[in-house]
Amino acid sequence: MSFKVVTIAGATGLLGFNIADAFLNDGSYKVKILRKKPESENKNASLLASKGAEVVYIDYNDKNDLVKALKGTDVIVSAIGGTELVATQCALLNAAKEVGVKRFLPSEFGCDIKEMTGEIHPFHKPKVEFLQELEKSGMEYTIIVTGIFYDYLGTLGFDHKNKKATFYADGNTKIVCTSLPDIGKYTVESLKLPEARNGTIRVAGSVLTLNELLKKYEEITGTKWEVSNDLTVRQRHKNNTAPVPTIIDDFSAYLTVSLDIKNLHNDKFSFTPLPVTEGISLLVKS
Ligand SMILES: NC(=O)c1ccc[n+]([C@@H]2O[C@H](COP(=O)([O-])OP(=O)(O)OC[C@H]3O[C@@H](n4cnc5c(N)ncnc54)[C@H](OP(=O)(O)O)[C@@H]3O)[C@@H](O)[C@H]2O)c1
Repeated sequence: MSFKVVTIAGATGLLGFNIADAFLNDGSYKVKILRKKPESENKNASLLASKGAEVVYIDYNDKNDLVKALKGTDVIVSAIGGTELVATQCALLNAAKEVGVKRFLPSEFGCDIKEMTGEIHPFHKPKVEFLQELEKSGMEYTIIVTGIFYDYLGTLGFDHKNKKATFYADGNTKIVCTSLPDIGKYTVESLKLPEARNGTIRVAGSVLTLNELLKKYEEITGTKWEVSNDLTVRQRHKNNTAPVPTIIDDFSAYLTVSLDIKNLHNDKFSFTPLPVTEGISLLVKS
């Protein structure tokens, strides 16, 4: 199937900007970006518009508005963030069905949620809920699984400012992580993969254990780090046991054991991803 028009929702965000930029750099697609009304200045939107993206303002609560904006779209990529992930993406999906959009890429770009067993973290529940709606809708879809963004490695307990690491799991736990520009490129190329049709595409910029990542941080910062283990965060959060972790810490602990993503599709792609050492170097310099 050939796709010509790609509409990206949430393109002003960290992830969405990189995806829109990759489509524009590819040069084979007409790129539209959807922005929430009312119109407002945004550096990323201006940059994308200067590279040829059409910026369309919409009210996600107004179906006519959405239908008008999506006319002619072949593929929707949702990179929406925020707390209304289900309602906003459902609105997009309903309008997409009405105008005959061919494929929908939901705002995933993290863990392999469909393959995860056990309790789903509250932060992931909206994603699970929307995936169920998407599958029920009959719309063709692709889920892109990327592990954690290099920019978010700090969430797993790596504190490069203070040269300290807190491990929320065994040091041999494997972590899949990927740079944002590569996630953009993987998203673009996924449109050409037969496996992407109603499927999950799993990619990794790097797969290293927590211990190996720590070693990279130590090499890059040129110093030995202080390391501590905090293996009971989830339990303490659940049981309200002191010191009670925040829900953010609980999510970090949950993420740490959810990033050993299997069955990667890296060999289906044309490029070599940016190594995590480069991602860490950029983080350390920032
Ligand atoms: N794997 C990882 O390490 C990782 C890390 C962070 C995020 N993520 C995932 O990446 C995706 C995007 O996250 P992000 O942090 O880049 O997003 P974000 O910056 O929070 O939001 C992206 C854009 O979505 C639009 N938006 C926000 N709330 C909205 C709403 N209620 N309705 C419609 N549009 C809304 C806004 O664009 P406009 O105002 O221009 O419309 C915003 O700039 C999410 O699925 C998130 O879970 C993954």
